[in-house]
Amino acid sequence: MVRLVREIAKEILGEEKANLVWSSLDIVGDIAVIRKPPSIEIEDLRILAEEMLKKLKWLKSVWAAISPIEGSYRLRRLEWLAGEKRTETLYREHGCVFKVDIARVYISPRLSYEHIRIARLVKPGENIINMFAGAGLFSIIIARFAKPARVISIDINEDAYRFMLENIELNKVQGIVIPIKGDALEIIDRYSNNVQRVLIPLPELALKAFPKALRAIDREGYIHVYEFAKARNKLEALEQVEKTYREAIESNRDVAKYSIEGRRIVRSVGPRKYQVVLDVWVKRS
Ligand SMILES: C[S@@+](CC[C@H](N)C(=O)[O-])C[C@H]1O[C@@H](n2cnc3c(N)ncnc32)[C@H](O)[C@@H]1O
Repeated sequence: MVRLVREIAKEILGEEKANLVWSSLDIVGDIAVIRKPPSIEIEDLRILAEEMLKKLKWLKSVWAAISPIEGSYRLRRLEWLAGEKRTETLYREHGCVFKVDIARVYISPRLSYEHIRIARLVKPGENIINMFAGAGLFSIIIARFAKPARVISIDINEDAYRFMLENIELNKVQGIVIPIKGDALEIIDRYSNNVQRVLIPLPELALKAFPKALRAIDREGYIHVYEFAKARNKLEALEQVEKTYREAIESNRDVAKYSIEGRRIVRSVGPRKYQVVLDVWVKRS
């Protein structure tokens, strides 16, 4: 499928432009989203979209993302290109199914590996907080693949909360994934010394959320923090983020011992900009 889209793009736009489009394409269920590169006109993308719909029978709708991801709900402005004028779809990942609306809720297939990677780290009986849960992907995949006691899943976006409720039912994880609508930076204060793992999948608020996540940990546990770094290369990005969080931990009196058990580049998010995740183990004082 991937190769086919590339071939179609090459045919319509030529090799150079096709490469640009190719790296900015996301498929969410039966909808394709092309991040519009500045050097390609929307009309050219429309011709490409029509052709994609003709050749890929399962594809029903194609949209252009005409802004970066923005605002506290982390959404992109979309422009319809071809096919059904619909933004709601069913997206499948790791055997789970998620109802999402690409215009109303953050969704990125590029986090797919992270979702399962974290799920595989969870031990039976853990209490977990997912501070920025979106439509519930991390939480539901954890609930299906591990045996957590509960995954408190917070999101401030009413639509994300609504889709999370539906997705909990669709994947039959009621009573394990506990959805909460509101500001995670406030809600997490209810859970001091209560959980064994916290997920912080929102780089924009990560450093602010981190001390609160530390306080939620009961005796010892893990924090998975997602952060951005502007750096010349991947190694520099990893080291930069690690340094920032070592400083944050070492100046925090709530921590007796810690270690950074994992660090990885999640993806490139622009020229010389990377998303990094750290897996931090902490023992409380
Ligand atoms: C990058 S998305 C999360 C992606 C999600 N974890 C996934 O795997 O698909 C960040 C989410 O944080 C939510 N958000 C932003 N600020 C928030 C806050 N203060 N409290 C709770 N949720 C917030 C946004 O609505 C958005 O859904």
